[in-house]
Amino acid sequence: MAEEVIVVEGTSTLSGEVAVSGAKNSALKLIAAALLGQGASVIHNVPLISDIEVMSEVLRRLGARVERTGHSLLVDTSEADGIEAPYELVSKMRASISALGPLIGRHGRARVAMPGGCQIGARKIDMHILGLQELGVEFKVNHGVLEASTPHGLHGAQVSLEFPSVGATENLLMASVVAKGDSIIDNAAREPEIVDLCNMLNEMGAHIEGAGSSSIEVTGVPIESMHPCEHTTVGDRIEAGTFLVGGALTGGPLTVRGIDPSFLRMALMKLRTMGCEVETGEDWIRVSRSEPIMPTDIQTLPHPGFPTDLQAQFMLLASLAQGNSVITENVFENRFMFASELLRMGADIFLDGHHAFVRGVPALQGAPVSSTDLRAGAALVLAGIVAEGETYVHAVEHIDRGYEDYVGKLQGLGASVRRERI
Ligand code: EPZ
Repeated sequence: MAEEVIVVEGTSTLSGEVAVSGAKNSALKLIAAALLGQGASVIHNVPLISDIEVMSEVLRRLGARVERTGHSLLVDTSEADGIEAPYELVSKMRASISALGPLIGRHGRARVAMPGGCQIGARKIDMHILGLQELGVEFKVNHGVLEASTPHGLHGAQVSLEFPSVGATENLLMASVVAKGDSIIDNAAREPEIVDLCNMLNEMGAHIEGAGSSSIEVTGVPIESMHPCEHTTVGDRIEAGTFLVGGALTGGPLTVRGIDPSFLRMALMKLRTMGCEVETGEDWIRVSRSEPIMPTDIQTLPHPGFPTDLQAQFMLLASLAQGNSVITENVFENRFMFASELLRMGADIFLDGHHAFVRGVPALQGAPVSSTDLRAGAALVLAGIVAEGETYVHAVEHIDRGYEDYVGKLQGLGASVRRERI
């Protein structure tokens, strides 16, 4: 059957300026949060990616009207009476679980298909469930469908998360904002996308304080007092980081625009440690490198630690360093599949559980490779740009889930890449 691949001619340059799109991992939740207001919200700077289409479809199945105009999305929840996020959509995109919190907030009940795992791990939702139970939610699982109800209503509580889960923090926020009484979410996730969600919820009438810290305080308000809003999604720090690694690999200079540099402090520190010059402005970051790539050790951690979503990109950079690096993946249980693809291109990487021992090599060779998840896919295209010869990247649908016009943006930076049906 015909398949679309990304063909990369290495080695080629990657320099100039690129504007990043809105953050996938924020916009998906902002769309779900619109359910907490009755009427039409408008969300700007929404990336044109397939995951957004799936979340839009989830909202439509719930009865909302979702219309896109360019990078703006109108979400009208006036008729959104549905309570079910069906299996065929949740199985396509596990982030649909973000509908759980707002559905419980809006209707007091929800039916959401249990999300499956994926290539990078089991992706459990036990922390979502335990936290929501503290707020008065009762759950049953029926034939793979998670049924939530609030027989005694939603009430405030102090919830402590075992791990600062992004998704669990978001679902707890979207339910607690309309619970009776006050809540505290302890050990909350601190990602910039959490702050973006809290900002939108507050614009809708919620009372949230402490967003971005590990203890978030929520004063519950009646759902009737929540109202639609107009909100602009923050820039995508992982897309920005992906392009910055491209500039680090080729020497740049490469500038990403539309991103708050404070979102990427740890990644920028690592780029400097690895021999890059990094300059920043209010909403831009520039990277260049004239010295050899130096090795470094990386521990992926919840924000503000090093982001797991940049682990594959930095493993690529480390694989061309003058020396050995150790990369430890602490967030997901199985996020080293990228390494096996990179080995096919001549990298020298030894995996041992959560550790990847990366020995720098002078060069990589182009080869046919396959995306295992969207970040690995994006990194494989970068690998093709710095490798000698041609690289065919398969399973590009993973990349299309999270990167708007990735090939077009890379071409704009001088890369010899193209999409091709084979
Ligand atoms: C979000 O996933 C992002 N996805 C991920 O980005 C990102 O890697 C991750 O946060 C960490 O930053 C979206 O926002 C759509 P978690 P999420 O809950 O919310 C375990 C990308 O490439 N866990 O913080 O699912 C879980 O299995 C994607 O854009 C439980 O065990 O992440 C994982 O090992 C990949 N029980 C770890 O915690 C739970 O109830 C972190 O998960 C919840 C999570």
